[in-house]
Amino acid sequence: MKKEVMLVTGAGQISMAITRRVGFGKKIIFGDKKKENAETIAKIMNNAGFDVVPMEMDLSSRESILALIAEGQKYGEIKMLVNGAGVSPSQAPIEAILKVDLYGTAVLLEEVGKVIAEGGVGVTISSQSGWRMPALTAEQDEQLATTPTEELLSLPMLQPENIRDTLHAYQMAKRCNEKRVMAQSVKWGERGARLNDIAPGIIVTPLAIDEFNGPRGDFYKNMFAKCPAGRPGTADEVANVAELLMGPAGAFITGSTILIDGGATASYFYGPLKPEKN
Ligand SMILES: NC(=O)c1ccc[n+]([C@@H]2O[C@H](COP(=O)([O-])OP(=O)(O)OC[C@H]3O[C@@H](n4cnc5c(N)ncnc54)[C@H](O)[C@@H]3O)[C@@H](O)[C@H]2O)c1
Repeated sequence: MKKEVMLVTGAGQISMAITRRVGFGKKIIFGDKKKENAETIAKIMNNAGFDVVPMEMDLSSRESILALIAEGQKYGEIKMLVNGAGVSPSQAPIEAILKVDLYGTAVLLEEVGKVIAEGGVGVTISSQSGWRMPALTAEQDEQLATTPTEELLSLPMLQPENIRDTLHAYQMAKRCNEKRVMAQSVKWGERGARLNDIAPGIIVTPLAIDEFNGPRGDFYKNMFAKCPAGRPGTADEVANVAELLMGPAGAFITGSTILIDGGATASYFYGPLKPEKN
């Protein structure tokens, strides 16, 4: 029997929480660079009644993205996409962050946008980190939104002399995710499909734990201690937002980024997290 298909990248906590919320009844293809991560999640979810196929895939490779889509199409129409793969500033060098988080996400949204079924929905995960960076120029925003995917990494603003460190690379990648979602949502709309973005604050997952133990660990711990919520978030709370965006109650929402950060960004601009001027 043909089933509606859900593609998921990144077999991490955020992807799993969203998939548990919206993936019932679907054939779910779970891709991760570390196949064992995909297999671990497939085992947990298949034991809970879901229908998950684990797959090795690399978000930074168009070929690998096309293989994920082709695997899904063996089972039916692609109806859902969750892009939860990514590397954080403490996990990878600048080039890898730009290749995975910026370029890979752009290619995935483009390629799935060519095949998404009518009524289909997608979410990608950016980050509140992109919201702390000052505004770019209108021209730079447009370049991030619309530059052909194969030319993205050649943009002057993404060259090594213009990227300070891995955090800056991550912020540029996540800003690009938001702009790409806006531009791609227009194309997805032509097929009767919707595409949105979630920008989480600190969510306790292996990726965040690497940040707590990395060079910016104190900064992150201070951030959640001093944000209005006073704690880090959970992947299940991100799934609450995804459920809205991907379900019928979100039918009028497309091309949007929803910030879910316990108020950390608000505090960064207007509260105790505001950086001191020197
Ligand atoms: N956890 C947080 O605090 C937080 C905050 C903001 C944004 N995010 C974003 O959420 C997304 C998911 O992160 P998470 O916290 O669930 O992390 P996680 O560590 O639980 O999962 C991330 C998964 O992505 C996989 N991955 C890494 N590179 C890949 C590649 N090239 N191709 C395919 N898979 C790859 C990893 O192997 C891992 O299984 C990331 O994009 C991250 O930047 C996380």
